Amino acid sequence: MNKNKKDNLVQKFQTNRMLLLAKIKVVLTLSTLITSLGMTSYSVNADTSQETTMKVRNTMAKMASKEDTTPPENVTAADFIEIFEKLSGAYPGFRKAHAKGVCAAGKFLPNQNAAYFNDSELLSDESFPVTIRYSLGGGNPNADERVPGVRGTGIQITLPSGAKHNFTGNSAPVFAGKDPETFFGLLKTFLPDASGKPDPRKTGAYIMVNPSTRANARWSQTTPAPVSFANTPYFGLHTFFYTNYANEQLKFRWELQPNLGNKGLSKEQAASMSSEFLADKLKEQVSNPETEVSFTLIANIGKDEDTNIDPSQQWPSDREKVTLGKVVIDSVGSESCNPINFDPNVMSKGFSPSDDPVLRMRSPAYGISFGKRMTNQ
Ligand code: HEM
Repeated sequence: MNKNKKDNLVQKFQTNRMLLLAKIKVVLTLSTLITSLGMTSYSVNADTSQETTMKVRNTMAKMASKEDTTPPENVTAADFIEIFEKLSGAYPGFRKAHAKGVCAAGKFLPNQNAAYFNDSELLSDESFPVTIRYSLGGGNPNADERVPGVRGTGIQITLPSGAKHNFTGNSAPVFAGKDPETFFGLLKTFLPDASGKPDPRKTGAYIMVNPSTRANARWSQTTPAPVSFANTPYFGLHTFFYTNYANEQLKFRWELQPNLGNKGLSKEQAASMSSEFLADKLKEQVSNPETEVSFTLIANIGKDEDTNIDPSQQWPSDREKVTLGKVVIDSVGSESCNPINFDPNVMSKGFSPSDDPVLRMRSPAYGISFGKRMTNQ
């Protein structure tokens, strides 16, 4: 081999090596960031380009043991409660996830002419009372509200028959795992190791080996903290069904879009704020006679080819959208939401859950957390 050719090869090798190391650095930095958020966001980072991703994946997977990158089997609701407490610390009397939050109340104004759903009790009158809770993801009731990550809403609509209909969703449009096991494995990577700290390389390796954690990660990397609970969308994430009186069934995924717009805090704004502002901001918005604090409730109608069981996969954005109504917030800050379990499987007549295993896991996990909370554990 002549000297020039050899030099070229060496240069090419070094460039590739540098690129690979740079990619690994990005992944590790993001993993550190995510770890510093604890489980606040249920979210991780992502890397998408193909060949380099494979190389990074292999390198990182070698750094971590197979055990660190393989989702566990047969995870139970009690396992989730345990790991939430390990990650955030034990806070008796608080929700084991979404521990920090604020109650609000208002009304649901149904769109009584909504296609497909217009014979449901949910849309059967002009207005129904709602109890709401807005929250930050994670099990820390003292979480810093300037930090980006998941925000949540629990909405309970009370219908004339006394039936309840819950909508409990997150600000991330996609979940961090295709099933409870994949999500649990991700949470495990945030636990401290023998050094007393979590190892971000484990998280990075896990993400590389488990692609269903990546879309949520991408969201997490790119989405700032919202300026208000009223300035972020919320997504149901799972597939639900509605069966009308003619016994026709359709599948849908719901979302709540903020009528005050989707607005994030810039880094500069966040730096100048106190760590607790969300409840006050919402109160201020609600008490302003010039603004209506409200959300539009939308059902995205699924096609046969859209997944029913995987909340880590978004449906295509061109799906038919049906407006189900408007949720208007009238007051903020009472204790009214405290005794409520916002179990997403509590729905009114005609609505039913899909077989999404993450959705199925939620009822027992919420039940345990609710029971503990009500007994100050
Ligand atoms: C395996 C998956 C999940 C587990 C184990 C889990 C677990 C929990 C638990 C234990 C609570 C506290 C319940 C209480 O004490 O009342 C909670 C609250 C919450 N979760 Fe999840 N969750 C999961 C998935 C999700 C998903 C996919 C979403 C969004 C679509 C979500 C949104 C929320 C919200 C908004 C709250 C707060 C509800 C409130 O304010 O009371 N969770 N979760």
